[in-house]
Amino acid sequence: MTISKLHNLDTSSLLKPIQIGNITINTPLTLAPMDGMTNYAFRRLVREYSGEDCGLVCTELLSSLILTSPHHPRSRAKFDWQPTIEFPFAVQIYGNDPAMMADAAQILVEAGAPIIDINMGCWVPKIARKGGGAGLLRDVCTATAVVDAVVQAVDVPVTVKVRAGYEVGQPTAINFAKAAEDVGAKLIAVHWRYAKQGFRPIPPDWTIIRQVKEAVRSIPVLGNGDVKTTADAIKMMLETDCDGVMIGRAAAGHPWLFKQIAHEIRTGEPFPLPSMATRAQAALDHARVMVETSEHSDETVTILELRGRLHQYFDEFVEEDERIAQLRYHLVRVNTLADIEALLMPFIEEREYI
Ligand SMILES: Cc1cc2nc3c(=O)[nH]c(=O)nc-3n(C[C@H](O)[C@H](O)[C@H](O)COP(=O)(O)O)c2cc1C
Repeated sequence: MTISKLHNLDTSSLLKPIQIGNITINTPLTLAPMDGMTNYAFRRLVREYSGEDCGLVCTELLSSLILTSPHHPRSRAKFDWQPTIEFPFAVQIYGNDPAMMADAAQILVEAGAPIIDINMGCWVPKIARKGGGAGLLRDVCTATAVVDAVVQAVDVPVTVKVRAGYEVGQPTAINFAKAAEDVGAKLIAVHWRYAKQGFRPIPPDWTIIRQVKEAVRSIPVLGNGDVKTTADAIKMMLETDCDGVMIGRAAAGHPWLFKQIAHEIRTGEPFPLPSMATRAQAALDHARVMVETSEHSDETVTILELRGRLHQYFDEFVEEDERIAQLRYHLVRVNTLADIEALLMPFIEEREYI
């Protein structure tokens, strides 16, 4: 669907605020939690470039086991949120022991988490096979007991992110969503794939999102999975009647994506894409803040993580321009923050380039 075709649809009603318990998010476009990606450095960029057009950001997943082991060296390492910059935001936890999840949620709320999100979407075997993440969807009773325990333990809204189910063809998310609502969950986000499908590049089937939306009585449902463009976001909302859209991979390197989608839905006009100077500045800010706030004392470890991230800011130009192809080539080979600065500063200073 092109933007001009979108203009013929009445999409104005799609950008309605969502109520998550006592918290209102102004735009129903939200950032999906992504381990290794949605750390403070990136969430801050989303707030800077998309503002309130990203209704909600979410931390990476945190282990309830680690959080409740006070002497574990990583137990507080990822408490990286800055409420004044990020609000509204959710902090995500995983685990399958209701009491431990409740304790972990309390620790996070004491540390300022305004929303607790429970991960029932992670398919990675080391988590799901042990019954955490999407592994909980094999056992709706335990999954519901986890939500119940967390809701009872904290006085902030509790949300849940699920996949369609665990085994392909067994959409347990539907019954679970009803049960989760009954015990007090305030929002459900649904990634349409089954856990067993991992991230298989199969054609999206958003039926499960509609089914979950029909199953719950009054809490909002976010649709998730393979939304890359404004057209995808509109299509998902219209086809499934979901209240909003959660976007993950497409936002990597594109912290302005939420502003872009909101603008295109509101106006029907294409969003003016950021210049090279803006992209280079965003990539550099990402690197600097990550180095400043990293849990690793050794800069090299952070730079290795950044190698896989920074080139994403320049995706759109990859075919067109030899100088940008070179930039991308070198960004995946940097060793220090100084290397990154040396690569990006010329594009920032040369404001007219593309
Ligand atoms: C690198 C990566 C890390 C992820 N980490 C998490 C996570 O910590 N918690 C979670 O609930 N989902 C996680 N997900 C799943 C995403 O939140 C999202 O459900 C999935 O990517 C589908 O949405 P998308 O097609 O918009 O990317 C992760 C996905 C990716 C690609």
